[in-house]
Amino acid sequence: MKKRVLSGIRATGRLHLGNYLGAVKGMLALQDNPSYETFYMVADVHTLTTPYNIEELRKNRREVMVDYLAAGLDPQKSVLFQQSEVNAHIELAFYFSSVTTIAKMQHLPTFKDKVKQYPEHATMALLNYPILMAADILIYKAGLVPVGIDQEPHLEVTREIARRMNQEYGTDFPEPKRFATKGEYIPSLTGEGKMSKSVEGSYINLTDDLETIRKKVRSVPTATEAGGEKSSGLQALFSFLQVVAPTQVQHFEQSFQQGTLQFVELKDTIAEAIYAELKPLQEKRKELEANPAYVDQVIAQGAQKACEVAALTVKEVRGKMGLL
Ligand code: TRP
Repeated sequence: MKKRVLSGIRATGRLHLGNYLGAVKGMLALQDNPSYETFYMVADVHTLTTPYNIEELRKNRREVMVDYLAAGLDPQKSVLFQQSEVNAHIELAFYFSSVTTIAKMQHLPTFKDKVKQYPEHATMALLNYPILMAADILIYKAGLVPVGIDQEPHLEVTREIARRMNQEYGTDFPEPKRFATKGEYIPSLTGEGKMSKSVEGSYINLTDDLETIRKKVRSVPTATEAGGEKSSGLQALFSFLQVVAPTQVQHFEQSFQQGTLQFVELKDTIAEAIYAELKPLQEKRKELEANPAYVDQVIAQGAQKACEVAALTVKEVRGKMGLL
């Protein structure tokens, strides 16, 4: 039997370079491997866990789907769907919450970070975020999840829930593993932390043109300290280089060691490599924008297929928990 894969990205905005290199590239690799059956969703329900704008959500849940298609996710090979179209995720999340303690959820670093970011919005939905994510994955009995390394604590929760459910109710949920890509950690353009939609000036959009990308990469702070240590900005640049132009790493490392490194040359090399990677996506996106009926059809078909599989799992769980 084929091994199942599930992944998703929150619908908080259009995708950025960090999403693409960290998650979407892994999603593509598994889609094109015939040993896997792949389910990829737009995590629009998860968007409700932090403050959001209704009209923007309505727009973004579709934009993320268009970005998926532009990046090469293919409805002939993968089930592409919007999470909210499959109600069963929410139902299963409630069942899962019965085997999960409050204390466990409150201590997750991702929960604490968000509470710090939005102190007025420490809601039950936010506390339940990892449980819904576990339901997203386990409803398809997926054993492999292509996501960035920051999601590891959530996968740990997923594995725990799978174990608890299997012990208490005799289900056969797998304990899913993360599928890592070499772009699993894409640094922020500020030189601090990871590239993120919620940090202004930290990200490159998939739709940015060469000039914009060049300007953004040039803005990465690059003061070198005496003593030959790389500043955090320079470290970020080398991480980018490693992912988008690995053959150039040696050359620039050498000039760094020799003290002849030209920051602008390094930055422009990175900018050009990023643009070369994004150009085909931008062209594909234009085609998709001209064909909204096709996108509608992909969304409708994906929902139908996902619902069929999800319904089987929920029925099984209901039965085993005494609800049938
Ligand atoms: N939490 C993920 C993120 O922030 C998004 C997500 C929601 C997800 N459900 C998922 C990722 C299921 C993988 C599998 O990126």
